[in-house]
Amino acid sequence: MSQPIILDTDPGIDDAAAIAAVLFAPELDLKLMTTVAGNVSVEKTTRNALQLLHFWQADVPLAQGAAAPLLRPLRDAAYVHGESGMEGYDFIDHQRQPLAKPAFQAIRDLLMHSPEPVTLVAIGPLTNIALLLSQYPECQFNIRRLVIMGGSAGRGNFTPNAEFNIAIDPEAAARVFQSGLPIVMCGLDVTNQAVLTPEYLAALPTLNKTGEMLHALFSHYRSGSMNSGLRMHDLCAIAYLARPEIFTLKPCFVAVETQGTYTAGTTVVDIEGRLGQPANAEVALGLDVEGFRRWVAEVLALAL
Ligand code: RIB
Ligand code: CA
Repeated sequence: MSQPIILDTDPGIDDAAAIAAVLFAPELDLKLMTTVAGNVSVEKTTRNALQLLHFWQADVPLAQGAAAPLLRPLRDAAYVHGESGMEGYDFIDHQRQPLAKPAFQAIRDLLMHSPEPVTLVAIGPLTNIALLLSQYPECQFNIRRLVIMGGSAGRGNFTPNAEFNIAIDPEAAARVFQSGLPIVMCGLDVTNQAVLTPEYLAALPTLNKTGEMLHALFSHYRSGSMNSGLRMHDLCAIAYLARPEIFTLKPCFVAVETQGTYTAGTTVVDIEGRLGQPANAEVALGLDVEGFRRWVAEVLALAL
């Protein structure tokens, strides 16, 4: 039985790989996709998301979300993904349009009408999720869990201590971690290990249409390199849903720093329980890297 999923995303080249996996993994049933400003502007992440849905001929509604973090100006990651956010591939034209309502309302409407609890997956800044929880707290009853790519128990990748998705909107992340929702945090502790090898990357163009397109995008993706391997941050959140057994999780109290001049966006992961606070997240600290690579090869082979 496949599990219903809502995916909030900021494509984003590693987001594109995650979207391929959520569409073609037999365990998952994507009910709605929503976009958020992050890697690039929300206009660009929405355009990119629509292009991907058209590429895969996916009958999935899309709603555009927040254009900026809750309080801070947007800082993007075009230096990692290119100015378009998905540099390297010319997608064909299409007539697809987003829904005529914002992401947090589209998520709320789906949750309130779903006959079963739905898993939320967030692989960009948590702005839309924070808006949902603040505006429509009543919908929490039908959220099975929130799985995020974000944070780190160790060093950051956007500032010395903060991972990008959390660093862009620390206030949103703090609201989410304080919500009481069941959270699974796939942070840099595992996503920096989730590296596709140069050999696998080199073979992608002959896999299928999806492999050819992802190879073109990966050639412009700056989280690693084609010669040393590429870090598939967002794919980890999808891998957790399809192959939870390849992750080692620990229940931890996680606080998000919002005040620090140098530390805003840091996820303080209390692995040893030194703060005496109850755990508010299952934090992924270990990954079976070969198991991850096997799953990626399996699921991308199922794609168009
Ligand atoms: O830190 C990695 C995260 O930031 C990924 O979601 C990537 O797409 C970027 O948004
Ligand atoms: Ca992302």
